[in-house]
Amino acid sequence: MKAVYCTKYGAPDVLEVKEISIPQPKENEILIKNHASSITTADTIMRTGTPWFTRLFMGFSKPKKPIMGTGYAGQVIGLGANVKTYQPGDRVYGETTFCFGANAEYVCVDVDKSIIKSIPTSLKYEEAAPICDGLLTSYNLLIDKASLKPNQHVLIIGASGSVGSAAIQIAKNIGAEVTAVCSETNAEMVRELGADHHLDYNKDDYTHNLNCYDVVYDTVGKSSFAKAKNSLKTRGIYLSPVLTLTLLGQMLLTAKTKRKKAQFYATGLEAPKVLNHFLDKLKPFIEMGKIRTVIDRRYSIEEISDAHAYIHTGRKKGNVVLVHSQALYS
Ligand SMILES: NC(=O)c1ccc[n+]([C@@H]2O[C@H](COP(=O)([O-])OP(=O)(O)OC[C@H]3O[C@@H](n4cnc5c(N)ncnc54)[C@H](OP(=O)(O)O)[C@@H]3O)[C@@H](O)[C@H]2O)c1
Repeated sequence: MKAVYCTKYGAPDVLEVKEISIPQPKENEILIKNHASSITTADTIMRTGTPWFTRLFMGFSKPKKPIMGTGYAGQVIGLGANVKTYQPGDRVYGETTFCFGANAEYVCVDVDKSIIKSIPTSLKYEEAAPICDGLLTSYNLLIDKASLKPNQHVLIIGASGSVGSAAIQIAKNIGAEVTAVCSETNAEMVRELGADHHLDYNKDDYTHNLNCYDVVYDTVGKSSFAKAKNSLKTRGIYLSPVLTLTLLGQMLLTAKTKRKKAQFYATGLEAPKVLNHFLDKLKPFIEMGKIRTVIDRRYSIEEISDAHAYIHTGRKKGNVVLVHSQALYS
């Protein structure tokens, strides 16, 4: 099978496609014929090994797990001896998290320790593969951590990205008011996803409205708690999935207060059981077509370096996917 390897940190051209043996499932694992996998901003962090603290998890001088990718979607074709909950032919998607290995034509997944779910009815593999990036992250941060409520007002910075496009839809589906921040290029897209208002960061100062937002959700880490603070209501929360030393300091400073808070969460560090539960909560919305993954570009496995170079521009709209088998596309 073909798999994307990263054996040293660097530019997109460090990635190589290698031909290797199909893995065999261990007792608690299923073997999946992977039809699509996600390529995310987090994958570019794995490739570059930056910020440096990420090497604590991924390996100091080179990646410990060299096969790239975490989000997969495919069909079960083999079962370990202890697996009772899945059958060959089942359509599944999920995340391998710190096991990586999803940017490959086949992947083995531990059914007890991984994020794994049946693909919602009528969803294509390419639409399922990125669910755990944007949708799961935004569900965790907005609903579980910030407890966003109907009629509350959320400012979403980076609203046209993977995490942001998911956040708009989740917030609208619970009845919140959404102000989306991205360039004019993507204004129509964020409105179409449900945003009530759009602000262009190139010309609008999105923090000048005082005491306006219950939540400021900076999905791309381009703002800061200090900048957003005055636009938050008294008990408002600034939260981001992007960790910086500044945000870490602000989290510590605001940890004890009931007033304006700064928060960071790493969704991948949550227990798989918790994340699988969040996916169950999202499932009806996905099945009813009320929430979808936005697909920007599709690449073949041989084009992996081009895909990483595109993501590195910081301009992607929603998600980028690697399509492994054109024949079994839907
Ligand atoms: N902690 C976690 O658990 C977790 C999980 C998933 C992702 N993440 C992190 O979340 C971050 C976001 O990932 P992503 O994939 O959603 O990003 P992304 O898709 O790469 O975001 C790109 C979008 O951001 C917009 N953008 C660029 N600069 C902006 C600015 N200054 N202000 C507002 N919008 C701007 C762009 O729109 P325009 O072209 O219109 O500017 C573009 O559409 C990444 O750092 C990723 O590593 C963390």
